Amino acid sequence: MIYRSWDSDSDMASRLANLQGTGPGGGAVLSGAVAAAASQSIPNALPSSTSSPVQPVSPEQIQQWIVDVCDPRTRERALLELSKRREQFPDLALWIWHSFGAVAALLQEVTETYILMEPNTLSAHQSNRVCNALALVQCLASHNETRKPFLEARIPMFLYPFLSSSHNTRPFEYLRLTSLGVIGALVKTDDPEVVPYLLQAENSEIIPLCLKIMESGTDLSKTVAVFIVQKILSDEKGLAYMCATYDRFTHVANVLGKMIENLPLDGRNSNRLFKHVLRCYVRFSEHQRAREALRNVFPAKFQDNTFLSQLKEDRSLGQWMLTLCRNIGMSSAAVSALFPNGDATTVISPTTQNNVLPGSTFFRDIPTRQVDNQSR
Ligand code: TRP
Repeated sequence: MIYRSWDSDSDMASRLANLQGTGPGGGAVLSGAVAAAASQSIPNALPSSTSSPVQPVSPEQIQQWIVDVCDPRTRERALLELSKRREQFPDLALWIWHSFGAVAALLQEVTETYILMEPNTLSAHQSNRVCNALALVQCLASHNETRKPFLEARIPMFLYPFLSSSHNTRPFEYLRLTSLGVIGALVKTDDPEVVPYLLQAENSEIIPLCLKIMESGTDLSKTVAVFIVQKILSDEKGLAYMCATYDRFTHVANVLGKMIENLPLDGRNSNRLFKHVLRCYVRFSEHQRAREALRNVFPAKFQDNTFLSQLKEDRSLGQWMLTLCRNIGMSSAAVSALFPNGDATTVISPTTQNNVLPGSTFFRDIPTRQVDNQSR
């Protein structure tokens, strides 16, 4: 049987785990949503974990499979074999990009799937097949030397139909998650060209698409989608873009608010989701106008004790929450309980420093005026 079974969440997660391993821009970001989404539900997640171990092969064999991708008769097997081994050959992306026809063949796989979407006739088998192609597309997004031409060729646009479909069958969810993984891999690199690319008018629909998935996707998809939004916000141009109009800000803030309202309070994955949502709030709190607007839509669950046990369990969550409350001058029962002496001095976000109010017990009772003065 060529296709492994995929009726478990861990299989979906493992499909995304390749976002975790390679490429630059690792560090803290690596442990971000994508890696989290991918790895947490499966211990020792391997990049393309399968039920059977992957046999090592020679570079010549890899090159033969790249040739095989171009022939529709041998393509399916070649896609599977290459996607299983994509982590073992760091330059696989270069070989694919500079081959004769493999990139076109990958895009053909993608575009041939569109017709299966309306009406929805996408089978598990088809979905798996195109996801193997997308895993290779993701290699092109991750590799330092193929990313630029990858963006110039606007390959991410081929994924929009998958991201925007609202079918909720498993094959579709898998496809949506894998497509999000490609965008996640792009932003994860911290390449300064990526966010400006995503903000260009013809590409900017990616943000509302992520917001839609954050509202209605599965937890894994939500986690990757909010990771993408968080990475866009962490860029200066990205933050300015999101705050450029009141409509944009409220759209994002409403979705974040709903996520907090509906966040499940158990499980490690929901903590990951929580952390990324929280970091979006913190980032907004570093923008003067957004900070002011945030006060009006500050989630009630941030102000009471709802998340106390999560903040206790993961101190970094507590620190982010503290930073957020400081920046916007709101109080939180959970933060007060966590730092009873107001003694949390660790500054997580250097860019936040200017906005931090002086004083040690400020988050219990801060006159809003003080914040306003500071931010003007
Ligand atoms: N074209 C829309 C705009 O530029 C895209 C959009 C919708 C958007 N909702 C958003 C962009 C929220 C950023 C944030 O406004």
